[in-house]
Amino acid sequence: MSAEPTLVTAAHFDYVRDHTRAEDDFLGALKRAAAADGIPAIWISPAQASLMQILLRLKGAEHVVEVGTLGGYSAIAMARALPDGGRVTTIEIDPKHAAFARRWVADSDVAGKVDVIEGAGDDVLRTLDADSADACFLDADKGGYVGYLDELRRILRPGALVMADNAFAFGELFAEKPSDPEVPAVRAFNDHVAAQSWLQAAIVPIGDGLWVGVAHDD
Ligand SMILES: C[S@@+](CC[C@H](N)C(=O)[O-])C[C@H]1O[C@@H](n2cnc3c(N)ncnc32)[C@H](O)[C@@H]1O
Repeated sequence: MSAEPTLVTAAHFDYVRDHTRAEDDFLGALKRAAAADGIPAIWISPAQASLMQILLRLKGAEHVVEVGTLGGYSAIAMARALPDGGRVTTIEIDPKHAAFARRWVADSDVAGKVDVIEGAGDDVLRTLDADSADACFLDADKGGYVGYLDELRRILRPGALVMADNAFAFGELFAEKPSDPEVPAVRAFNDHVAAQSWLQAAIVPIGDGLWVGVAHDD
């Protein structure tokens, strides 16, 4: 064992992809239909979906709250990892994205397990019951992440799984002059997560960097 970490390169990401369960035909078709509808291809990767499914299964999660549905790819993937009776509540601000996701969820094998709620993340989260979820996934506007996490602290049960995407800021985490206007918000969120005493979390270098954490009382 070496004390030095292995630097993860593009070749490692390809290798991870090639050694991870691939997406099925349904999710592939969802992506193609979304492209035909002009919906941006900003999905989580199949490898990230697989890791999230593993974490949800390990947690035994029954209710997941997601902010940022897009076309329903990650919501469907997560719902597949839940037991009978489990559900994903996924929040989407864009009516076109929400309508697309609803159609594809309805045709999926997890139709009864995903609720697509149209609205802004902060508005909808405020309506969710306290201690009602055991996992969450943030994948929407980065400027909202700090507020979403703070609200989720009320919604999540002790021991809940916390996941948040894009910790590496679209590859621009260390850029002096980032081109993406959301980069400062990602950096601020990363600092915020690291300062939370109720949340033990680490950035997993998969996709664009996935925060994975566990909420705890002690
Ligand atoms: C990166 S995409 C989500 C991808 C999706 N999780 C997946 O991998 O299948 C981000 C989505 O968040 C939505 N969004 C942006 N701001 C939002 C907000 N304030 N509240 C809820 N959704 C928002 C966007 O419209 C977009 O559909």
